[in-house]
Amino acid sequence: MRADIVSIFPEYFSPLEVSLIGKARASGTLDVRLHQLRDWAHDVHKTVDDTPYGGGPGMVMKPEIWGAALDDIAGDGSPVLVVPTPSGRPFTQAMAQELAAEPWLVFACGRYEGIDSRVMVEYGRRMRVVEVSIGDYVLAGGEVAVLVMIEAIGRLLPGVLGNANSVVDDSFAPGAMENLLEGPVYTKPPVWREHAVPDVLLSGHHGKVARWRRDQALRRTVDNRPDLAARLTGLDKHDRALLD
Ligand code: ADE
Repeated sequence: MRADIVSIFPEYFSPLEVSLIGKARASGTLDVRLHQLRDWAHDVHKTVDDTPYGGGPGMVMKPEIWGAALDDIAGDGSPVLVVPTPSGRPFTQAMAQELAAEPWLVFACGRYEGIDSRVMVEYGRRMRVVEVSIGDYVLAGGEVAVLVMIEAIGRLLPGVLGNANSVVDDSFAPGAMENLLEGPVYTKPPVWREHAVPDVLLSGHHGKVARWRRDQALRRTVDNRPDLAARLTGLDKHDRALLD
């Protein structure tokens, strides 16, 4: 996958050099290209923003600069243009999977009050444009949201995770874990500061372990995410007894 990132702070993206994503880049699975938006601003101050029409606080990013940058980067190609904004569609595991199947993503990081809306309309004519929010809070700009998205998308690319099963068992993964949070996990030693690992995990009984994990996941989902618990489907009698 190719991922172009356009930002006035390309230095925000140094975490993409380490760990899983760093390795995915080194192996050629993920080709990340960083761009300084100001390279497309041609006045002496390299201005990228201006005051909002209609008044109000803050500044808005100028369409001509974004247009020049995106024309150069996309050329005649048709990447998916991802625009992080608190006004966007929620970023979910399903969206991460959908984007992981794309060959080319361009991330346009807004700062200040955001990017002139005509940019999304213009590029919507020639490519898929998705405005995406990573949660109901306001960041200072899209950079951190793009780091979050690239990590979630990048770990789904073929060959990036050592064990493909870890993706299947993820919280929110489609299938058995849909709308379920993962339960607690343990490693050695069996007793630490008087806290023992649950016996069932030491039993070697795969059926019992699976049932226990599901119970824990259900309990955690009800406690921490009643909104998800309300959407659970395919519950058996045992599950229901646990939830009541
Ligand atoms: N930019 C500012 N806040 C954001 C959010 N919550 N999600 C995505 N981009 C953002």
